[in-house]
Amino acid sequence: MDRRHALRTTLTALGVAAALTATAQAQNTTPFKIGFILPMTGQSASTGKQIEAAVKLWQAQNGTTVAGRKVEVILKDDAGVADTTRRIAQEMVVNDKVDVLAGFGLTPLALATAPIATQSKTPMVVTAAATSIITAQSPYIVRTSFTLPQATVPIADWAAKNGIKKVVTFVADYGPGLDAEKFFKSQFQLNGGQVIGEIRSPLRSPDFAPFLQKVADLKPDAVFCFLPSGQGAAFMKQFGERGLDKSGIKLIATGDVTDDDQLNDMGDVALGVVNSHHYSAAHPSATNKKFVQAFEAANKFRPNFMAVAGYDGMHVIYNAIAATKGAGGGDALLAAMKGQIFESPRGPILIDAQTRDIVQDIYIRKVERVNGQLYNVEFDVQKAVKDPAKTK
Ligand code: DHB
Repeated sequence: MDRRHALRTTLTALGVAAALTATAQAQNTTPFKIGFILPMTGQSASTGKQIEAAVKLWQAQNGTTVAGRKVEVILKDDAGVADTTRRIAQEMVVNDKVDVLAGFGLTPLALATAPIATQSKTPMVVTAAATSIITAQSPYIVRTSFTLPQATVPIADWAAKNGIKKVVTFVADYGPGLDAEKFFKSQFQLNGGQVIGEIRSPLRSPDFAPFLQKVADLKPDAVFCFLPSGQGAAFMKQFGERGLDKSGIKLIATGDVTDDDQLNDMGDVALGVVNSHHYSAAHPSATNKKFVQAFEAANKFRPNFMAVAGYDGMHVIYNAIAATKGAGGGDALLAAMKGQIFESPRGPILIDAQTRDIVQDIYIRKVERVNGQLYNVEFDVQKAVKDPAKTK
C-alpha cells in the first residue's frame, strides 16, 4: 500500500515536471516580439527610415536568436499621428502580444503610449522622442535617445565662454522646443548672458521666413535654434536666403538642426555652425567607424542620431532578453534594462537605474567639410551628462 502510494506520488510528480517542461518549451518556441512604432510616412519619415535601418543592421550583425529564443521585430507606421500610435500600441499588446514596445518618433507619440505600457506592464523603449518628462510618464519607459535639456546646457556654456552675450532663441513650439528654450535661457543667464527674444515656430509645416525676419530685427550676437530632425535643411536654406549667415548673427544649435541625415545637402550656409549633441557620424572611435561603414554599405545613406538610438535600443533589449535567459516578462526585462552600461557608437552610455533615462557624453561640434562632405566635427565634450531637468 505504502509502496503503491509512493509510486503514485512519484508518477504524479513526474507528470507535473513533464507538464512544466512542456510549458517552458512552448514559451521558448514562441518568438520574443518587439513592436516598433515609427513615423515611416509624413513630416518625420526620416526618423522612421533611420531607425528601421539601424534595427535591421543590429539584427544582421547580432542574429535573431537570443538565449535560445527567436526574436521577431514587428514594425508599424504611425505617420507621426498620436491617435494612430496609441491604437497600434494597443493592437500590438493585445493581439500580437509583444514583449516590448519601441520607437516613438515624436514626443506626443510617446506620451500617448505611456498609459498602455503601464497598464500592460510592457517595457517601452523610447528611441527618438526627447522631451525630458517622457520617462516620468510610466515606470515601464526606458530611453536610449537623449533629452533636450541634456543636449542644450553644454551649448549655452560654450556660447557664454566664447564672446556671445545676447541671444535670441528659436525653437519648435512643442515639448522638446520648450525644454531647449528654458534650459538654454537659464544656463546662459547663469553664465552672465542675456536672452533678448524667444521665438517659437509651429511644429507642422513651418514657414521660417517671418520668424527669421524677427531675429534679424533684434540683432543678437547669436540665434540658438532647436528644430526636430527633418527640418534643419529647410531652416538653413531660409537662413541663407535671408542673408542672416552674412549679417554677423551667429547660428548656434542643438545637433538636431545640423542633422547628419540632411547635413551634406545643406551647403556652405551650414559651414562653421557650432552645435551640441550626443552623436556625430564623424565620432572618431573604432566602434563608430565600424558602425558607420556597415550602415552606409547597407543603406547608401549616413546614420544620424536617430539611427544610433535605434541601434542602442536593440542592444538594451537584446541584453535584457539574455539576462532573463530568454524568458522575458515585463518586470524582469525592465529590471534588466536598468543600469545597463556599454559602449555605443556615440561613446559610453548608461541607463540610469533611478530615472530610466540615458546618461551620455555631449559633444560640442562644428560643421566642417571633410573629404568633400559636411560633418559635425567634435572639438570638446562634457562627460557623462545626466538629464539636468531631473531632480533625482
Ligand atoms: C523630438 C523629435 C525630434 O526629431 C528631435 O530631433 C528631437 C525631439 C521629439 O519630438 O521629442
